[in-house]
Amino acid sequence: MGKIDLAGSFTLPGTSMTVDRMGYGAMQLAGRDGKKVVWGPPRDVEGAIALLREAVASGVNHIDTSDYYGPHVTNQIIRKALSPYPDDLVIVTKFGARRTEDGSWLPALSREDLIAAVHDNLRNLGLDVLDVVNLRGMFSSHGPAEGSIEAPLTVLAELQQKGLVRYIGLSNVTPAQIAEARKIVRIVCVQNHYNLVHRSDDALIADLARDGIAYVPFFPLGGFTPLQSTTLSEVATRLGATPMQIALAWLLQRSPNILVIPGTSSIVHLRENLEAARIRIPAEVIAELDAIGGNA
Ligand SMILES: NC(=O)c1ccc[n+]([C@@H]2O[C@H](COP(=O)([O-])OP(=O)(O)OC[C@H]3O[C@@H](n4cnc5c(N)ncnc54)[C@H](OP(=O)(O)O)[C@@H]3O)[C@@H](O)[C@H]2O)c1
Repeated sequence: MGKIDLAGSFTLPGTSMTVDRMGYGAMQLAGRDGKKVVWGPPRDVEGAIALLREAVASGVNHIDTSDYYGPHVTNQIIRKALSPYPDDLVIVTKFGARRTEDGSWLPALSREDLIAAVHDNLRNLGLDVLDVVNLRGMFSSHGPAEGSIEAPLTVLAELQQKGLVRYIGLSNVTPAQIAEARKIVRIVCVQNHYNLVHRSDDALIADLARDGIAYVPFFPLGGFTPLQSTTLSEVATRLGATPMQIALAWLLQRSPNILVIPGTSSIVHLRENLEAARIRIPAEVIAELDAIGGNA
């Protein structure tokens, strides 16, 4: 399989780092152990390696990951599959959480936590410098929790000055936190929960687009509970696509600063998701899809 058009490209603001708008999210590559999700190795490590290699061979040059997927496992698989890395590949990782033995995700935003995170990521990915690091804020069941992120962001900025991190982004953050962060350091991307039915960030996406900052929705397909909607299924049938392809095509058409990172452990789903970059949804159908999230 050769390279395919992955929805055009986007240059992160103030950088010469350009990625295609259709990327890949690596969280689904980790395994599962009972109730512990994103935990341990996958059942089929060779399959995960083959998937990553096919993604890159197809043209994917933006991979989202974290060292707390596994933990460590996902980054180690990425290294095994892709190192030495192609020059144009941008690996985006994130700091701010740690896993406990029972599989929980706890905040890890102290200076020591962030310094450990940079070294864990560098070692497990086999890199001398991390391309982009997202600082992941605190969140509750309602979404990102307000509160200053100045202290951890200042540590991340120091790691950037030391040459261990090229560019900085944010994840699970509110508009107030983004405004605070932008006074401290250049922010190149924001990664929050957003998809066809979860649209709290509609206004934020427009604000970031005005400033050329990438918005990278996590759970673009609904995450652990994949999107289900009668309208979505009907539209997909009419357009000769799958519901997941329409969900991705809708995101790509939603705003030019949206970069998608659908996650999958299936090579068949990977191919299907990459193909979604070719789909053009007619304007009247976009209006139908918008009504799903109550934003018609
Ligand atoms: N910043 C954060 O806090 C945060 C949080 C969550 C995720 N993320 C990042 O965002 C990325 C994307 O999120 P995600 O992977 O959690 O969720 P997602 O992309 O919304 O959905 C993944 C789920 O959809 C399924 N799927 C994928 N493609 C499919 C297809 N074509 N047809 C049917 N089912 C399909 C996957 O199952 P199969 O494996 O069976 O395909 C998986 O269950 C992650 O990989 C991670 O890098 C960041």
